[in-house]
Amino acid sequence: MHDIPTHGETVTSSAPGKIILFGEHFIVHGTDAILCAIDRHVYVTAAKTESGIHITSDVGELKTSTITEDAPTTALMPLHHLARAAARRAGYSGGITLQVRSEIPPGAGLGSSSACCAAAASAVLGLLGLDVSDTAIMDAALDAERTIHPNLSGADTTASLYGGIFLYNRGVGYIGLEPHRADRFGLVVSNSGTAHDTDSMVRRVQRFRDNHVAIFSRLRKGERELIQRAVEILSDLEAGAAAESLGRLAAINQSYLRKIGVSSPELDRLVDAMQKITYGAKITGAGGGGCVVAFADAGSVRGIVTALQKMGYRDSFAVGIDEEGLVLSC
Ligand code: PMV
Repeated sequence: MHDIPTHGETVTSSAPGKIILFGEHFIVHGTDAILCAIDRHVYVTAAKTESGIHITSDVGELKTSTITEDAPTTALMPLHHLARAAARRAGYSGGITLQVRSEIPPGAGLGSSSACCAAAASAVLGLLGLDVSDTAIMDAALDAERTIHPNLSGADTTASLYGGIFLYNRGVGYIGLEPHRADRFGLVVSNSGTAHDTDSMVRRVQRFRDNHVAIFSRLRKGERELIQRAVEILSDLEAGAAAESLGRLAAINQSYLRKIGVSSPELDRLVDAMQKITYGAKITGAGGGGCVVAFADAGSVRGIVTALQKMGYRDSFAVGIDEEGLVLSC
């Protein structure tokens, strides 16, 4: 990470990453999904400079000498697109710098790019005195992310913006669920370390659907019922611990994900290892690589993380739920 000389004001925003608890891929084909924002964040600081766009981050740097110039296709291109589009809208012809600091591993299914785009949208719109309503931030963030993921459902960006646990539907958008009670369940995540490519996995599932229409339709029906059951469990405030019943649903969800072809021998091994010491585990996100999430009793999460690390799954950790969502702090 480099320090960039700037002049004038700066605006910093932070946004959380996410876990898809249930419903990845099927959401692209019309079902709901249940997501939660997690306590790992991306921080973006935007500042005005003389000219050009300069983005620095842990994954690299992108620089153009004028604000209207095209950017090369890299992981930082969406942020460049976002800054350029906002400058055009604001009639601003000076320069913009964006400093990105992330606690979320990239390409792991934890919503790092959505959190980046949401935090950057909020910081840039704030910097240029544009509308910083949720809708304006959402539109700018999605527009940026679609430069590399054209078929995005918008679920990740919604988590980064609103936080909490929620049901997401492509038509309706965000439907908030009850605030999480920490004693109801704990979440353990393990990163396979293999980066994944969301777009190619989404295309793979589309091919599966086209080639196996009846099977896909049965799986989608199963997923829809599973999500209804999960919503009932999450909304039942009278009930106590929910880890066991949600874990059982996670194991069923994983069997569907396996059938549509987004698991791999490596992910299957990780899921099996986690399943043995939790109530149930599944891929979270696009699959093909990335992370696996498991439900456990809140009190046993630490021990499970240690056990996984001893088994060689070094990049295993507990995640908490972020209830706050995007924070814009000038
Ligand atoms: O792995 P991620 O964080 O890119 O999640 C992708 C989730 C999908 O359902 C596969 C695609 C989408 O846009 O919802």
